[in-house]
Amino acid sequence: EIEKKIDVLMSKMTIEEKVGQMNQYNGFWDVTGPAPVGGTAEQKYENIKKGLVGSMLTVRGVKEVKAVQKIAVEQTRLGIPLIIGFDVIHGYKTLSPIPLAEAASWDLKAIEKSAEVAASEAAASGINWTFGPMMDISRDARWGRVMEGAGEDPYLGGKIAVARVRGFQGDNTFASPLRIAATAKHFAAYGFVGSALEYNAAEIGTNTLYNQVLPPFKSAVDAGLRSVMTSFNTVNGIPASGDKYLLRDVLKNKWGFNGFVISDWASIREMIPWGYSKDENAAAKSAVEAGTDMDMEGGIYVPYLIDLVNQGKVKQEFVDDAVRRILRVKYELGLFDDPYRFLDEKREKEIIGSKTNRETVLDMAKKSIVLLKNDQNILPLKKSGQKIALLGSLAESKNSPLGSWRIASDNNTAVSVLEGLQQYKGNALNYVKGLELTKTEPTFLTEVEYNTTDKSGFEAAKKAAKEADVVIMVLGEHGFSSGEARTRTNLDLPGLQQEFLEEIYKVNPNIVLVLNNGRPLTISWAAEKIPAIVEAWQLGTETGNAVAQVLYGDYNPSGKLPMSFPRNLGQVPISYNHYSTGRFTNKDNNVFWSHYSDVDKTPLYPFGYGLSYTTFEYSNLKINKNSFAKGEKVEVTVNVKNTGKLTGKEVAQLYLHDEFASVVRPVKELKGFEMVELKAGETKTITFTLTDAELGFYNNQHEFVVEPGTFKIMVGGSSDAGLTSQFDIK
Ligand code: IFM
Repeated sequence: EIEKKIDVLMSKMTIEEKVGQMNQYNGFWDVTGPAPVGGTAEQKYENIKKGLVGSMLTVRGVKEVKAVQKIAVEQTRLGIPLIIGFDVIHGYKTLSPIPLAEAASWDLKAIEKSAEVAASEAAASGINWTFGPMMDISRDARWGRVMEGAGEDPYLGGKIAVARVRGFQGDNTFASPLRIAATAKHFAAYGFVGSALEYNAAEIGTNTLYNQVLPPFKSAVDAGLRSVMTSFNTVNGIPASGDKYLLRDVLKNKWGFNGFVISDWASIREMIPWGYSKDENAAAKSAVEAGTDMDMEGGIYVPYLIDLVNQGKVKQEFVDDAVRRILRVKYELGLFDDPYRFLDEKREKEIIGSKTNRETVLDMAKKSIVLLKNDQNILPLKKSGQKIALLGSLAESKNSPLGSWRIASDNNTAVSVLEGLQQYKGNALNYVKGLELTKTEPTFLTEVEYNTTDKSGFEAAKKAAKEADVVIMVLGEHGFSSGEARTRTNLDLPGLQQEFLEEIYKVNPNIVLVLNNGRPLTISWAAEKIPAIVEAWQLGTETGNAVAQVLYGDYNPSGKLPMSFPRNLGQVPISYNHYSTGRFTNKDNNVFWSHYSDVDKTPLYPFGYGLSYTTFEYSNLKINKNSFAKGEKVEVTVNVKNTGKLTGKEVAQLYLHDEFASVVRPVKELKGFEMVELKAGETKTITFTLTDAELGFYNNQHEFVVEPGTFKIMVGGSSDAGLTSQFDIK
């Protein structure tokens, strides 16, 4: 029925109006104020009235969206509503943990719920469409955007991508005005940019592209995803916004994606400085023919594409395909039935920042924390009778814990770690800043300048540490140190923090290091010396409450790392699912084997790793048969026992290795995980089911194959999983 409506509408549209649907502008004037006069702002404004704009981004708030939507609906010839896009990355006003932190929960239901809350707040604010989830797999912690994704693994990344799409889109009917269309981004291989340098080229082989990069996108498409965003990078020499193979052949034709593709910000225009398109006309032609349906803030489709079609230089069918896709999503969202259906001021007030939304993000925040080390059970803290010193300016920060990509939220609205801990009144809490992390408070647009000179607070901090039973140090990166354009070439604790940590350690080694960071850091010294390390990322609005509940044992940590922590920078990029080599182990007792001369080749903390205040034991790994035909299901069972004294949650993980294949397979790949809650002393049996989807891989001809042979499985509580078994596929 929608397709027929689109036919009718398209039959009335001029080429200008069609290309207009393919044009998106960033909010460029105060939409509730007077119309802009002069310059590009006036031109853009006039373009909205002429029907030359199909979408706006970053306009938000019911009043504001209504004002701009009214122009499209009431003043254009055909009254086609705009679709309003926004970066809803980890919450809208009420912020969830940064996406990488959420991934550390391995809790798909919680992640879906978190995206649902984000969708509801954004929708209540008039937004119809989010530029998320980001599903770029990356093994390079130098790249700032790892904070926006789900880490290094395509299997976990794919499951999380689907959970987030469901959270945003619900059942894909958009019957509820609290669901919004999702965008899978960035298509493709952005996480593999050379040297982790932002916006750089990605040179990537078939094996990695097909088996690591593309799977989460494919899963999201299969789940009914409505849009895809191209990436800024080239993929093997072709800018992603002009990559016909990836966009038209794979995404649209092979995978059957029927939503629409949006460029990243001006990325069609950027094909010119890339040296791919010689001018705007060439960029427009390449992009539309490749399958980029909407031009984000690039000013390329309007006007250049219009002229190209009029001159017969671009076939109208490419434009028609793009417009049909965009209109389809607008129809599905109900914007033609009621362009104002997302615009209800009462609903906006009720939903944004509601108590239940805060509860949801608090739950998500607790689940995202990863306990990295806990010698002598220094944690959980006792509820009374301890003198606690709290050090480091991140402890009092209400801004940094909000993380990056939080455009709609207000600055300084997080519960700080200090505020969270102050609620536990049984202990004496002495907060001494000791070290100011940054020179000035950074913003989304400015470089973060760390304090590298001022140690004036060290003495007071040392005094407080000396007098304390336990010292909590909150160290790491500022929330704006990760995210877009935040590549770092050094992953140590920035500024004076390492020195600060070592100085305090000299006077009181009883330290709990609480890390706030948007990426894996190199913390080898701390891992050796500091008795307790808690990975608390940037946990959003409820940060302090979550951290305090974990430190005091009101929540038993259950997170597991979604990215390996390297021992030092030289190991990066690093991931658990690497290949073997011809000389993987030191068989001959000489140097000629695959290793580093100066450091162990394993990571400091591997993917999937995370402790609890209790302990778990795995036993009785069984496979229902030794040998299977292709297509048969393999059933694996294992017992997990809580061998400690507290109730706790464990993420049991199954890894697979296809021993010999026509294209060599990684030494292990995650192919199943299950979270289980166990009381002290309790045992549960977990079942993993492996199908062709888990057993197969893409070969170099891009075919998905399951090859006969022996498969090894490894099961346990991290990618270092200890129990092994094997089976054959005939
Ligand atoms: O969605 C983002 C994208 O991830 C990076 N460039 C800008 C877009 C819109 O803000």
